[in-house]
Amino acid sequence: MKKSDFGNDFQWGATISAFQNEGHSRADGKGLSIWDTFTAEPKNIKNNDLIGDASSFYTMYEQDIVTAKSLGLDVFRFSISWSRIIPKGTGAINLDGLQFYHKVIDACLKNGLIPYITLYHWDLPQALEDKGGWSNREIIGWFNKYVEISVNEYKDKVSNWIVMNEPMTFVGLGYFMGYHAPQKKGITTFLKAAHHVVLSLAAGGRIIRKIQSNANIGVALSCSFVKPLNQLPKNRKAAKRIEALLNRFFLEPLLGLGYPTDVMPVLNTIRRYFRKGDDDKMAFDFDFIGLQYYFRVVAQHSLTPPVLFANEVHPTQRKANLNTMNLDVYPKGLYKILKFYHSYPQIKKIIISESGVCFPDFKVSKHVHDARRLKYHQKMLKHVLKAQAQNIPVKGYFVWTLVDNFEWKEGFEPRFGLVYNDFKTQERTIKDSGLWFQQFLTSSEATTKKIKQTTQKQ
Ligand code: BGC
Repeated sequence: MKKSDFGNDFQWGATISAFQNEGHSRADGKGLSIWDTFTAEPKNIKNNDLIGDASSFYTMYEQDIVTAKSLGLDVFRFSISWSRIIPKGTGAINLDGLQFYHKVIDACLKNGLIPYITLYHWDLPQALEDKGGWSNREIIGWFNKYVEISVNEYKDKVSNWIVMNEPMTFVGLGYFMGYHAPQKKGITTFLKAAHHVVLSLAAGGRIIRKIQSNANIGVALSCSFVKPLNQLPKNRKAAKRIEALLNRFFLEPLLGLGYPTDVMPVLNTIRRYFRKGDDDKMAFDFDFIGLQYYFRVVAQHSLTPPVLFANEVHPTQRKANLNTMNLDVYPKGLYKILKFYHSYPQIKKIIISESGVCFPDFKVSKHVHDARRLKYHQKMLKHVLKAQAQNIPVKGYFVWTLVDNFEWKEGFEPRFGLVYNDFKTQERTIKDSGLWFQQFLTSSEATTKKIKQTTQKQ
């Protein structure tokens, strides 16, 4: 495997997010987000971890960007914290907040990295949640304004935009299961929030296009390879329903196909929250779809939860390659998911806008050995090549993540970075996986053989 095998127009990147990396959440006039509120209650987070300064990207952005460049990457993807630039979500603008992202963008450009900005990576301003957040239809207008302000501010330096990150994750976990901030539960809040997110995503795309006609606009969607427990028709049908929720629910309306009611007619109840004209406002012609695949799901029929009548056979109850979060890591699924995306003629280009895994790292003096992560990325990349060989237009691979960071409800335990972070001192050490990328991307002759020699066995 060589870098050139992926094509000259293939982009190599790393992704981070504001809440998970920046820290300093009260600095320089930043307003609170729902994640500041949620993490202020230590019992909400695994091991009672306190967010503290996370990975302190707010003060260490320059160093991190220089490191990203040294690994041979082309792209640096980060998100804007809405409440850093508009503390209350609407109204007054915080100039220091705007300035911070100018500094980040300038550091990218100075180091020859292409900035990709995610406009929303889950950290909703608390002031907006106090008014109902994503389940209040007014949010479409609030979000439009925020997008307009951000794009106008940075358009002279940035042309790659990801309107939102993983809508199913933040709506599902935050507005249905109550597991993530803002801890809302129930089908009504979920359906309302989901519909408003779809409308905001499409409207966001249109606003960017209007302001910057040559912008490269995408959305980052989570997806899973879903497999039925066995070939029993009831389990196969259960898998189709789970697939509709995890992989099709946001993708299809954005592509102009409406919600996936074919396998889940019950989803028609979402029409209760439609207003006149919504059918025509749900789609946007994205330049690329960001694919984010982390784990496989094995599905079976079940009487609970009602509505879905399906559940997951938990990875710990079957033979699975478990990561630190007990999720089933299954690189082969990437190829299958790429084929699935490619079955939609509306999708012009796919970028793997996040890909990564949390396994334990082994720090031995100044070295961090992470052979399992390295192998994981190598396998994922082989599946990218396999897909490309079948003319599937995969044009980028962005690693999640650059530096170990705050993994939401799971706190600091799961580490995904190519760079190890000592959270007590914020000292960074490039892991073996990072060194491999460095060699792979910067030396044209890097081969998998060489890599094996440099990687210590764990
Ligand atoms: C999210 C990241 C998260 C990563 C690992 C993705 O779903 O976009 O914020 O840290 O997965 O769980």
